[in-house]
Amino acid sequence: MKAITIQDGIYWVGGIDWNLRNFHGYLTQRGSTYNAYLIIDEKVTLIDTVKYYLADEMLERISSVIDPSRIDIIISNHVEMDHSGALPKMAEIAPNAEILTSPNGEKGLPLHYGHLKLRAVKNGETLPLGKRTLQFVLTPMVHWPDNMFAYCPEEKILFSNDAFGQHIATSERFEEEYSLDIIMDEAKKYYANIVLPYGAQVKKTLEAASPLAIDIIAPSHGIIWRTHVKDIIREYDKWASNKTEKKALIVYDTMWKSTEMMAMALYRAFEAKEYHPKLLSLQHNHISDIMTELLTAEYICVGSPTLNNNMLPTVSAFLTYMKGLAPKGRKALAFGSYGWGGQSIKQVEEMLASCGFEMLESLKVQYVPTAKALAEITEKVTNAI
Ligand code: FEO
Repeated sequence: MKAITIQDGIYWVGGIDWNLRNFHGYLTQRGSTYNAYLIIDEKVTLIDTVKYYLADEMLERISSVIDPSRIDIIISNHVEMDHSGALPKMAEIAPNAEILTSPNGEKGLPLHYGHLKLRAVKNGETLPLGKRTLQFVLTPMVHWPDNMFAYCPEEKILFSNDAFGQHIATSERFEEEYSLDIIMDEAKKYYANIVLPYGAQVKKTLEAASPLAIDIIAPSHGIIWRTHVKDIIREYDKWASNKTEKKALIVYDTMWKSTEMMAMALYRAFEAKEYHPKLLSLQHNHISDIMTELLTAEYICVGSPTLNNNMLPTVSAFLTYMKGLAPKGRKALAFGSYGWGGQSIKQVEEMLASCGFEMLESLKVQYVPTAKALAEITEKVTNAI
């Protein structure tokens, strides 16, 4: 396995996780990569590593360019183990290498790996490598408190770690070699499922990065940006601004199709008001794909019948996942059918309200909705939106 040249003397030396399908609850249907980058200069520098089980793949790629024991500096832009997992092995192979990280990284890395030869860098600090330099920009909470960017002004490359990444396993490294639509879809899914809670920090980071001349964004997952740099920055700015479209999600599970019939009645209401409604059964859609849709949706309606005094576990799992990702400023509605207790509708309503959403009046139907009841739901919701 070989290193891939990004610019003269700068290489991608990461690992490809072809079989990854679950990234802490996120369906990674296309796998992923952990991107590590090697700079050959007076100081041989490695930026980030890979998950522990891909360490040998990374070492093989580094070895195609240089003996890994000659690495002088390792930059750890992020403590999370998909990027730091091979640090202990690298520290053994290159025992003289100094590991540079953020002040929070200096606290977090020993809590994962014990003693490592670490030095914390400051925001804005510059590191001379020889012909090139690296500047560090601390980017806390994009994605953990320890995140930072490393920027190489001579090459106009931003090593952005998690920001601007996508979970795609591929041997292609640049946008022009792969489908741009898929890259953008995966970047959107990545933002919705990883970065969404930190919109305010993303805004600050984009402001901090705005004076930098950037020709290449080299993230820690997926494809490297070099022909659509401005486009992905613009998309991040839009997503971080929490702008929604005239789109309504109707997310539900159903036992005997009554809640599904109610979902269809809601669909008609949104259609009547010229929204783009989406029916998203939790039996057929992954919660992480629903989050991608929610990134730009104005409304979220969530339906569950009552099972044993509770909402269905699929609905509960979705609401827990969504609440953690903390979308802001949505309008919401709870609905569902029930037999006798009807607790699920109140539970869904409370969960949606706890997200801070603007609530519409909840809808419930006992057992099976009649055509008249469904028409009334459509009319009521049409009038409410
Ligand atoms: Fe790709 Fe937050 O790690």
